[in-house]
Amino acid sequence: MEGRTLITYYSWSGNTESVAKEIQALTGYDSIAIVEKKERKKSNMPFSALTALLGLRSRLMPMDFNLDGYDRILLGCQVWAWHSTPAVNSFISKANFKGKKVFLFITKADDKVPQKVIDSITSKIRSKGGEVADSLSITTTMERVIEPDEFREELSSWLKSNGLI
Ligand SMILES: Cc1cc2nc3c(=O)[nH]c(=O)nc-3n(C[C@H](O)[C@H](O)[C@H](O)COP(=O)(O)O)c2cc1C
Repeated sequence: MEGRTLITYYSWSGNTESVAKEIQALTGYDSIAIVEKKERKKSNMPFSALTALLGLRSRLMPMDFNLDGYDRILLGCQVWAWHSTPAVNSFISKANFKGKKVFLFITKADDKVPQKVIDSITSKIRSKGGEVADSLSITTTMERVIEPDEFREELSSWLKSNGLI
């Protein structure tokens, strides 16, 4: 029998959070935000991009990195400067992915599938004993937070195809 599923995500400007909340509404799974210890100032965009480009990790608020009791993890990430974000890098380095099946949902402003970011997150999770089963990337805009109506269809067919609803 399948075990429990957890939605966990980082979101600075709200897009990945919008997707995570919709997944939660569609599935009823537990959901927990990955939160950075230091508040990131919106004026600090170039610095944030640079930290992502350099593959840095940020300090996170305490959370359950052990992921006890969950077999499947829906991990919400985003693209900064063609890389994964410091909060996500940090979460992956701390989390116990042993034996867990991971599904990535990624938001990004570019139209293209961020394959390089997907591959790099996949290999980091694999080195921690987890397996990335599938990924979905959703195109957003940096001007406003994306609305569920804009991605619900795409999202629910992805969740269905993976047996998540
Ligand atoms: C510092 C920074 C760098 C970004 N770099 C990229 C990029 O290289 N490629 C891309 O497609 N989107 C890029 N974006 C857009 C974000 O990936 C997109 O807005 C995403 O939905 C943000 O997620 P969030 O709202 O959950 O924080 C960047 C956004 C920020 C803030």
